[in-house]
Amino acid sequence: MPSAAYAYLISVVAAISGLLFGFDIAVINGAIIFLRQQFGLSEVQTEVAAGSLLIGCVFGASFAGWLSDRFGRRKILIFSAVLFALSAFGAALPRNLDEFIVARFLGGLAVGAASLLAPLYIAEVSPARIRGRLVALNQMTIVTGILLAYLVNWSLSFLGPSSWRWMFAAAAVPALVFFIALFFVPESPRWLVECGRESTALGILSRVSGAERARQELAEIKEAIAEESGTLAELFEPGMRRALGIGVALAILQQITGINTVLFYGSIIFRERVGGHTESAAIGANVFIGAVNFLATIVALWLIDRTGRRPLLMLSSGVMAVCQLALGAAFLMQPPPGMLVLGIMLVLLAAFAVGLGPGVWVVMAEIFPTRVRGRAMSIATVSLWIACVALTMTFLSLAKAITISGAFWLYGFWCLVMYWIVWRYTPETKGKTLEEIEKVWRRH
Ligand code: BGC
Repeated sequence: MPSAAYAYLISVVAAISGLLFGFDIAVINGAIIFLRQQFGLSEVQTEVAAGSLLIGCVFGASFAGWLSDRFGRRKILIFSAVLFALSAFGAALPRNLDEFIVARFLGGLAVGAASLLAPLYIAEVSPARIRGRLVALNQMTIVTGILLAYLVNWSLSFLGPSSWRWMFAAAAVPALVFFIALFFVPESPRWLVECGRESTALGILSRVSGAERARQELAEIKEAIAEESGTLAELFEPGMRRALGIGVALAILQQITGINTVLFYGSIIFRERVGGHTESAAIGANVFIGAVNFLATIVALWLIDRTGRRPLLMLSSGVMAVCQLALGAAFLMQPPPGMLVLGIMLVLLAAFAVGLGPGVWVVMAEIFPTRVRGRAMSIATVSLWIACVALTMTFLSLAKAITISGAFWLYGFWCLVMYWIVWRYTPETKGKTLEEIEKVWRRH
């Protein structure tokens, strides 16, 4: 098999977890309406039911890095596949709210773990030339999962009050596929070198990059690992501290620039804030949003190894800033014009999908040294999920406190901060091997 095809195959398998990530975070949107009726949930109970997955993500992301440094990337991915399947069945079959919350929390552990392990594992098996695109494949599957969830919800909703059970059960199919497929992919060669299993690592590198290049890569990996102490303290040494700071800042800013308010609350915004929309029109607008997210991500895949990460991230945050400003202004009008609001949201989403969506995960998977990559990426990913919880839990009350326009302007401000951090501090990683990127920090 030609080498790039093998790298693609491995990446596609790892990226199936993105499909589950996207599906699991978005499926609740439609399901919650029925769940609420069936269990007679109060406002607070509804919020807990909706939020339990995200809380699980924070924990999943915090353990997975450490576990994967110790036991290997692939083993922990397999473990997350089991959790994905358990959660799909568990969320479909509960007799009461408590059981539902536990099932979704387990699903959150899986989403959190996979959200960091899939990009990290893909980055570690990919040749530098196409690494950006392969890692971004994971974002492609995330947005596919979101779109699938909207479509599954819509098509199952005619089943009536129990339809929510089928909505959650649907995730069992990709979870089982993911579980089985993981037995056909190799462990990360970089992790294997770190454990001293060089000949196995060389075999995998040769299949990805060809025998000659593989020997060279193996030597580079060994050299880089020899320079690493592998302790957490290493992360706080001057050069690495900078890498960690950038990783965490990008992670938090990807969330607080506000994209998930549109993705999670899109239909509520339309129904309650923009006059003259029925429920189905509001849900229809959501499907549109999911489709644009999907299409724009394809553009990102095509561009990320051509233009590099920095230009995409800067373009993305710049356009998003303008959109958030415009969105705030549109909501000053009484009533806000529906088509205008939808139009701006679509541009906002397209801008996110071309840059911040895939780009942040790509950079996070690239900028840390091998021996601490799992733990370092954990710190950044946990920050991302905490910011995600904070954003989604505060959006409605923030809109009450400072008006919805104020909320969008605040997100717009964070877009500018994102622009500045990328422009001023984030190195270009396009085309460099992970070992070359590591050297950038050691120079600081
Ligand atoms: C983000 C998620 C977001 C998704 C939307 C991901 O990169 O981390 O928070 O929901 O993109 O496409």
